[in-house]
Amino acid sequence: MSCSECRTRTAAESVAATEELLGYLGDLVDKKQSAPADDVLSRLAVEQLGTGAMTREQVANMGLLLLVAGHETTANMIALGTAALLENPAQLAMVRGTDDPKLIANTVEELLRYLNITHSGRRRVALEDIEIGGQLIRKGEGIIVANDIANRDESAFPDADSLDVQRKARHHVAFGYGVHQCLGQPLARVELQVVYSTLYRRIPTLALAKPVEELDFKHDMAVYGVHSLPVTW
Ligand code: HEM
Repeated sequence: MSCSECRTRTAAESVAATEELLGYLGDLVDKKQSAPADDVLSRLAVEQLGTGAMTREQVANMGLLLLVAGHETTANMIALGTAALLENPAQLAMVRGTDDPKLIANTVEELLRYLNITHSGRRRVALEDIEIGGQLIRKGEGIIVANDIANRDESAFPDADSLDVQRKARHHVAFGYGVHQCLGQPLARVELQVVYSTLYRRIPTLALAKPVEELDFKHDMAVYGVHSLPVTW
């Protein structure tokens, strides 16, 4: 897993690449509109574009959002989750040895909490005066809610800095909180449950090829993870 080029592109190259992808998605929307299949783009093309509720450009942009939000997140959770489990052999042994789908589901929640890959905070605007933790936030003021810090809050998760796949962690806020949350969280959960329950069984000798502290972490990206995960098996 590697994305060594993703930080070396110029702004113009990034814009050109996005435009090319949007062009591809626009063509795909046209194809789906003329020959709909059983998929989300077809439904958007028929139900939204076909009725005039959305423009072609909006549907293509929706496709781009689903692609990026859906891929970048789970891909990073797979690489970073694997690094975290390899660093915690006792936890990995539990995950590898279990036939209990509940423990796997728990592992996904705990890794979402512990790793918190959407690490740049959730942004909101107060619609009315509110008080949080003794601090008055006035109507109209912006708030950056640090969900990564909330996920390491000792009052919500005792011994929060430890990875514990048996912990009840479902109340984490890695997908956001409240009425506006991650749209893809059920899919993300299923994908990660499949990966964590099969990868380490299929490749029981999987190991990090370099110490975890030498990995190239994505401190500089919107979604946290590792730029590459060198492994041996
Ligand atoms: C581990 C995986 C994932 C994590 C941690 C994650 C996390 C998040 C977070 C924190 C938000 C912002 C919520 C807010 O501030 O209100 C979000 C939004 C979103 N996510 Fe995810 N996500 C994941 C996977 C996915 C997948 C698989 C999809 C789609 C296939 C997806 C689609 C979206 C979309 C479309 C939004 C924007 C929703 C909107 O603006 O209305 N996500 N996600």
